[in-house]
Amino acid sequence: MLLGVNVDHVATVREARQEGEPDPLTAAKMAIKGGADGITVHLREDRRHIHDRDLQLVRRYIKNVEINLEMAATKEMIGIALKVKPDMVTLVPEKRAELTTEGGLDLKKSGGKIARAIDAVQSKGIPVSLFINPAISDIDLSKKLGATLVEIHTGLYANAKGKKQTEALTRVRKAVKRGIDCGLLVNAGHGLKFSNVKKIAAIMGIRGLYIGHSIIANAIYLGIEDATRQMKRLIHEAKGS
Ligand code: PXP
Repeated sequence: MLLGVNVDHVATVREARQEGEPDPLTAAKMAIKGGADGITVHLREDRRHIHDRDLQLVRRYIKNVEINLEMAATKEMIGIALKVKPDMVTLVPEKRAELTTEGGLDLKKSGGKIARAIDAVQSKGIPVSLFINPAISDIDLSKKLGATLVEIHTGLYANAKGKKQTEALTRVRKAVKRGIDCGLLVNAGHGLKFSNVKKIAAIMGIRGLYIGHSIIANAIYLGIEDATRQMKRLIHEAKGS
């Protein structure tokens, strides 16, 4: 099972100061050292975190792992995808006011637009994945619209507790099975963290998990001690000189 690491949050921290650090490309390289099989960037229409240049640099300097471009199914984004040529495009719904992608694509409402985007991107050799809710009808529609892959939204499972979480897990399992049965490659992601990833990772047949927030959050915890120590050492060295 592949692990795709989403580095958007690194760019979010950078944008807090609009300076050069932290740099998503550097973080991506470090994630690969840690075993990431892929790097995801979500180029939002409002460019609130990842910028076009980040995507170009990730494409140029990261080799041998999958570059997954998350994007809305708009003309502008399709143009960018065809120019930059990621290894995979994941189509997501996008609302300007949302904090993160809130749900899967509405394939019934936007089917035509999504089918055209799939065709435009896949005809140039880039496989397209659809981020969808864990519903059988959405799996079937994804196949019908021509997608090569789907990414099952695990957010409901991740946010639920007790019986509701067990039910949500069953929905994910059923959706994964249906996806595999109808010949789709099936990924999963959203809201996965150390405490809930194992039950999703145990589902047979999932191709890859796509995780961002938890990895970046834990990177802060794992690194803050060292970063503080290093700053303290520099301050002490200056006093001694
Ligand atoms: N998959 C998709 C389609 C997403 O939009 C996101 C969030 O950017 C993720 C996976 C990763 O979710 P999280 O940050 O909760 O791990």
